[in-house]
Amino acid sequence: MSHDFFSFFLAWMSAPGRVGAIAPSSPALADLITSEITASSGPILELGPGTGAFTYQLLNRGIRQQDLTLVEYGSEFMKLLQVRFPGARVLWMDAARLATERLFDGAPVGAVVSGLPMLNMSPRKIISIVGGAFSYMRPGAAFYQFTYGMRCPVPRPVLDRLGLKAKLIDRAMLNVPPAAVYRLTRRPQNKLVTRNAVVSAPAMVPTNIGPAEAEHHTSRDCTTAA
Ligand SMILES: C[S@@+](CC[C@H](N)C(=O)[O-])C[C@H]1O[C@@H](n2cnc3c(N)ncnc32)[C@H](O)[C@@H]1O
Repeated sequence: MSHDFFSFFLAWMSAPGRVGAIAPSSPALADLITSEITASSGPILELGPGTGAFTYQLLNRGIRQQDLTLVEYGSEFMKLLQVRFPGARVLWMDAARLATERLFDGAPVGAVVSGLPMLNMSPRKIISIVGGAFSYMRPGAAFYQFTYGMRCPVPRPVLDRLGLKAKLIDRAMLNVPPAAVYRLTRRPQNKLVTRNAVVSAPAMVPTNIGPAEAEHHTSRDCTTAA
């Protein structure tokens, strides 16, 4: 919707680092990031839905609103999401708290779709978010993340720490700027990420995430930072 561009731009003006993009994602990117999701993938956890560009596409894929949990930190998007998706659970919270909240009983989530600007986040915060999300995900479930960068926005040491692997699905050229989508899954034969492990994760950030690595992942230009 055209007024989404305006409200998104205003949100970016007030908090460029958090919003991470000057405009909502395109239909092409929404199509790509949800391309492996089917009606049987629910419940779905969506992180950083903004104005709902990916959420609409999840509904088109057959996901029911009651199977959607939307975690959004921007107060400017909250009312919009509640009005647009009245059957969904819309939570106003920092996704980094996923590790310490109890959003679901057990691990029922079939897929996570993330629009979070991870290039603006420290490795420590990414561990909390990704580790927290995986603690709710059932075996075989995938975490989908897009990026404007040239490589996976979840650093390799973080993937190693959490026992995950990342695979590039494809790039959406019809997006401003063009974006890539990665699929994160558990490595085979690896212990599941447990709630306890995630809660204590900040104390266990591997020593090979040094200042240079942290700098690399926090100092990028904030205008397009997903
Ligand atoms: C790049 S925008 C993507 C919005 C939407 N998914 C899209 O693709 O058009 C990033 C979104 O993540 C939200 N966000 C950023 N940091 C967050 C956090 N720590 N927890 C929850 N939401 C966050 C922002 O408010 C914004 O809505």
